Amino acid sequence: MSRKTFYITTPIYYPSGKLHIGHSYTTVAADTMARYKRMQGYDVMFLTGTDEHGQKIEDRAREAGVTPKQFVDDIVAGIKDLWKLMNISNDRFIRTTDPYHEKAVQKIFKRLYEQGDIYKSVYRGKYCKPCEAFWTESQLVDGKCPDCGREVVEAEEEAYFFRLSSYADRLVKYYEEHPDFIEPQSRLNEMINNFIKPGLEDLCVSRTSFKWGIPVDFDPNHVVYVWVDALSNYITALGYENSEYPQSDFEKYWPADIHLVGKEIIRFHTIIWPAMLMALDLPLPHKVYGHGWVLLEGGKMSKSKGNVVDPVVLCGRYGVDAIRYFLLREIPFGSDGIFSNEALINRINSDLANDLGNLVSRTVSMIEKYFGGTLPTERKAETLDDELIAMANGLQAKVEAQLDHMQFPVALTEIFKLVSRSNKYIDETAPWVLGKDEANKPRLASVLYNLVECIRIVSILISPFLPNTAPKIWAQIGVCGEVTYWESAGTFGLLPQNVTVKKGDALFPRIDMEKELAELEAAEAAQKAEAEKAAEKAAPAKEPEGVATIISIEDFAKVELRVAQITACESVPKADKLLKLQLDDGMGGRQVVSGIHPWYEPDTLVGKKVIVVANLKPAKLRGVESQGMILAADAGENDVKVIFVDDSVPCGSKVR
Ligand code: ME8
Ligand code: MG
Repeated sequence: MSRKTFYITTPIYYPSGKLHIGHSYTTVAADTMARYKRMQGYDVMFLTGTDEHGQKIEDRAREAGVTPKQFVDDIVAGIKDLWKLMNISNDRFIRTTDPYHEKAVQKIFKRLYEQGDIYKSVYRGKYCKPCEAFWTESQLVDGKCPDCGREVVEAEEEAYFFRLSSYADRLVKYYEEHPDFIEPQSRLNEMINNFIKPGLEDLCVSRTSFKWGIPVDFDPNHVVYVWVDALSNYITALGYENSEYPQSDFEKYWPADIHLVGKEIIRFHTIIWPAMLMALDLPLPHKVYGHGWVLLEGGKMSKSKGNVVDPVVLCGRYGVDAIRYFLLREIPFGSDGIFSNEALINRINSDLANDLGNLVSRTVSMIEKYFGGTLPTERKAETLDDELIAMANGLQAKVEAQLDHMQFPVALTEIFKLVSRSNKYIDETAPWVLGKDEANKPRLASVLYNLVECIRIVSILISPFLPNTAPKIWAQIGVCGEVTYWESAGTFGLLPQNVTVKKGDALFPRIDMEKELAELEAAEAAQKAEAEKAAEKAAPAKEPEGVATIISIEDFAKVELRVAQITACESVPKADKLLKLQLDDGMGGRQVVSGIHPWYEPDTLVGKKVIVVANLKPAKLRGVESQGMILAADAGENDVKVIFVDDSVPCGSKVR
């Protein structure tokens, strides 16, 4: 019989900058789930990756002075290193620039076009560049992007559209028939009330305004807009419409068990993606889980805002497992929660160092001290033991019940209840008193065995969360093989009676809060200063707005400005903004193309005198030669005024 499969995905992240602790949050949660399911015996497929196309990346690459591909290659290498560092056990990593993915997306797009689910029209709307999202007027908050609060711009272009509107009824029906499809449940109402009820509009799925995307192969002026490109990753990474992976993977793992995403992209995953799948006649994912945000005290962190928390630095300081533990323990899964260094250090000190670390080190030390490291087999049980043993026996079922609903913090709380109970058991049984009398050795052996067994069960159950720590514990309590398997955590008493332990390093050294916070503050200040210095060096021209860089008179003298008269003027075909001007520059005449059509009609300009930059390198604008440019002023928001010169100034006069 073939094993049950489990397919879990993270969002594919934008490699527009270094990832922060928020991205680690999703990936660590998905990893914990994947590890848990593997331990349970599932055939797991765990996918993560990067979403590499789009205007924002194109812009960033230009700023950095590299090609978009060079730009993303560099960041993606860093992302892969981060996941390695954080012990992420993904089975595959998809990049949307992988050729197999690009070709598959072209096929998907073409198929949807041919069957009428995609059609060509004109897009007008409000666009948020950093979020790469179009919004309708009613979705804007105070006229700004509802996701990030930044300015949106009016955008209009010829584009392809996906007939999303025709899927509204089928979507609602699907939600009704599959009440677990969207979790947490509260998000379902949000989708229905905020997006579906006001009426689903068809979705713009192509762009002509930038190039960094997958070309629509039958209309190469267009690139596939990022969401169709991005969402398809979940099936192309399984071999759908490509031969990079066997088609059998798709048959085996699709539909996904869980798409784990942050709450801001639930709508893409529960509306657009299911509609796309319906159009492709494919089964829908079982569940989209939208978790909350990791916030800083000042708000949500974001790559584009710059207030990031670097997981590499955090893991270096406190260890990967401490970070994984904090993320999954501190924030109620599904809700928002706050990251702070203080909260992190508190968790490390109280839960990991005091409770878990001490339990292991005390137990192992006592076995070494009283029995030379190996427990004797002679035993004496007492009724006091029963409660502890019952608790240990029942723990796995509780943890599974929570993990099956992605309730990581509750699962950890359950596990740590047994840790606390074990520590209390040490106080109740007072092994140091028992150790004083040879006659009490059988009782002492029982007590210590019970503790090791509790530690064993705890260590197995935390291993999906803390993959580095579990083996360290196993080395100390001398267990390996079957008694570390998931199923063995359900039964107390599987360890051999004569178990041998071996003390190791402290699992989680205690952190001196005050000292640490002071050091962090100093490090942060140093980092900030360095970043400012680097920014200054990298972009000397980026002065505060309104203040120009100081140049020398020699610099200015390089620009040759001359007075010229407009002798003829006409619009440029297929270029709304451009005018073609013929100028009498007193030097035989020249042609200049200028983007002033929104503000000037051609015939109003003829006869006027203007200033032309006469020694500018000629350029072609929409295929029309332009020899220089004419001067104009930005006269307020979205207004431009050409600088006209007094009619008495002769053509060709130099302007200095
Ligand atoms: O949205 N708290 O990529 P992205 C919690 N490429 N989770 C956070 C977080 C925070 N502060 N910040 C980021 C994209 N995340 C698209 C996805 S999927 C087909 C395409 C996590 O780089 C969270 O999972 O903006 C969120 O949904 C995701 O990173 C957004 O990553
Ligand atoms: Mg985002």
